[in-house]
Amino acid sequence: MVWSLQSVPLLSDSQFALWSKLLEERAGIYLSEQQKVFLQTQVAMRMRELGYSDYGDYYSCVVDGVSGMVEWALLVDRLVVNETRFFRHRPSIDFVGREVAAHLQRASFNTAYDLWSVGCSSGEEPYSLAMVLNDVYQNAGLEPRYAITGTDISRAALGVARAGVYGERKLSSVDEHFRQRYFLPVADNQFQISSLLRDRICFNQGNVLNINEMPIIKVDAIFCQNLLVYFRRWLREQILNAFVARLKPGGLLVIGLGEVVDWVHPDMKRVAVDAVQAYVHK
Ligand SMILES: C[S@@+](CC[C@H](N)C(=O)[O-])C[C@H]1O[C@@H](n2cnc3c(N)ncnc32)[C@H](O)[C@@H]1O
Repeated sequence: MVWSLQSVPLLSDSQFALWSKLLEERAGIYLSEQQKVFLQTQVAMRMRELGYSDYGDYYSCVVDGVSGMVEWALLVDRLVVNETRFFRHRPSIDFVGREVAAHLQRASFNTAYDLWSVGCSSGEEPYSLAMVLNDVYQNAGLEPRYAITGTDISRAALGVARAGVYGERKLSSVDEHFRQRYFLPVADNQFQISSLLRDRICFNQGNVLNINEMPIIKVDAIFCQNLLVYFRRWLREQILNAFVARLKPGGLLVIGLGEVVDWVHPDMKRVAVDAVQAYVHK
């Protein structure tokens, strides 16, 4: 159904402040004044689906008890930016591939490699990493012993990620070599990620704001791109600090280029690689 603009009730400044505060407190996402129309449209569409005509009544529904939590989980899917694509930032992905190859050498080909993709959206990012990692193990003549955990706040995006089925257009950024190897045609113009990769990736719902409540399981690499950029600077730094505690010695943190400036941590050293913003745990 198409809603006409006229039929969307106007969000007052005070209501915008209330809704954007809720989004920032619960998801970390900071909306500027310019994004008021976006917020208004998304909230109003959901209100229409439920039969609400007043932002205040719907707000009470969202913040009220267990049913409010369920409604919030649905609404947040509409408010987050899920945009992603395979091999979105190729230099970062290739960098991880080279580092894993070096790790295998150092570890005498004997250890597993654990990677965490934070804010993984509908799966394209962790699957891209898996394609590269799988090839690294294969080229070294080894059984793949890597595991990737993808987490995201959006249950809807995670549903797509777990199914691992993508339309042909989504494959336009995938090299022919990877297409042939890791995508199986399942229906008209639909391709599923091979179980070679799906079996190595686990997708879990997780809000990065609650990172300090998550058990500390140390990993070899954390890949977090195009997520921190929606947060205020102090929050970005707080989350990066929490990532450090979840990295093994020698572990890598790869973020989006320029997403955080001037962040320094006594346990982390910036890696000098062109076009990549990465840090290694000392
Ligand atoms: C723009 S997408 C980026 C996806 C992928 N990392 C990439 O670079 O292509 C941002 C993702 O972060 C997720 N996200 C937003 N707030 C989050 C939070 N507080 N905790 C975890 N994930 C969050 C969104 O649901 C969305 O899937």
